[in-house]
Amino acid sequence: MRDYLISGGSSGIGLELCGNLGKRAGTHLIIITRDRTRAAAAVKKKVGADTALDFIEADLADPGTGAELHKLLDQALQRRPAAFIHSAGLALPCALRKGDSGKVQQLLQVNTLSFMEITRWLMLHHHNAGPCKVVALSAQAARHSLPNMELYAVAKAALEAYVRQAAPALLPLGISIYALAPGFVDTPMARSSPLWQLHPDFARYLTDSGLQPQGLIPPEAVADFILYLLDKPGPYGSGGIIEL
Ligand SMILES: NC(=O)c1ccc[n+]([C@@H]2O[C@H](COP(=O)([O-])OP(=O)(O)OC[C@H]3O[C@@H](n4cnc5c(N)ncnc54)[C@H](OP(=O)(O)O)[C@@H]3O)[C@@H](O)[C@H]2O)c1
Repeated sequence: MRDYLISGGSSGIGLELCGNLGKRAGTHLIIITRDRTRAAAAVKKKVGADTALDFIEADLADPGTGAELHKLLDQALQRRPAAFIHSAGLALPCALRKGDSGKVQQLLQVNTLSFMEITRWLMLHHHNAGPCKVVALSAQAARHSLPNMELYAVAKAALEAYVRQAAPALLPLGISIYALAPGFVDTPMARSSPLWQLHPDFARYLTDSGLQPQGLIPPEAVADFILYLLDKPGPYGSGGIIEL
């Protein structure tokens, strides 16, 4: 049985990944979600009946989640998982001038700090554990921010900085770590973005405007790429930021 810990497994890219992993025999998915019932309904439609499923109910926006999250992970996992994929994300528009500190806190907690906290838990549970791959979803926004998305960009840039800095410390513990930075992906997050609302034929807008000449990315393409990283033998390229 291979354990995979996935945040954001209930929707979009994370849900596609659950579907991919669930097609493999001997898969145990442990999904971090705010709503176990809703997540279970979505994931069960994607995976086979023999996929083992567990859920950790936690709001990753909660600044008090750190110690609590470690406790929940201790309860849910008997050993370090084969991989941890951080697909939970929050893309709140937040104007810098008007931005309220609550939104700043939420953006950093969900996108960055919760990921760091879970990775720290993996580091503490390295004894007698096999190799572990960590993949975090960053975004092109870390480099090319859009108006009102600057704080999301800061959170993703910090996530990437952490991946680079943590890689050498994680290697001796058998953990390799990567960040994946896609452009716009066709998921509920992108569909609710102000830019999509402004341009209903969004795929066409992306290519015509030159903002994303390759067009809108299907979530399956990102999930396939994550699978490639998980299957790739060895820790080569750990600390890498891969732009999609
Ligand atoms: N879509 C894009 O265009 C795009 C582009 C670049 C990067 N990304 C990144 O890719 C990742 C996946 O995005 P997506 O497009 O698949 O988004 P999505 O469909 O909106 O899914 C977001 C996921 O994040 C989880 N989440 C949000 N807030 C949470 C919280 N407070 N606590 C726990 N979980 C929380 C949700 O889980 P629950 O509702 O079950 O709690 C949900 O499964 C994100 O990190 C995003 O920033 C997306």
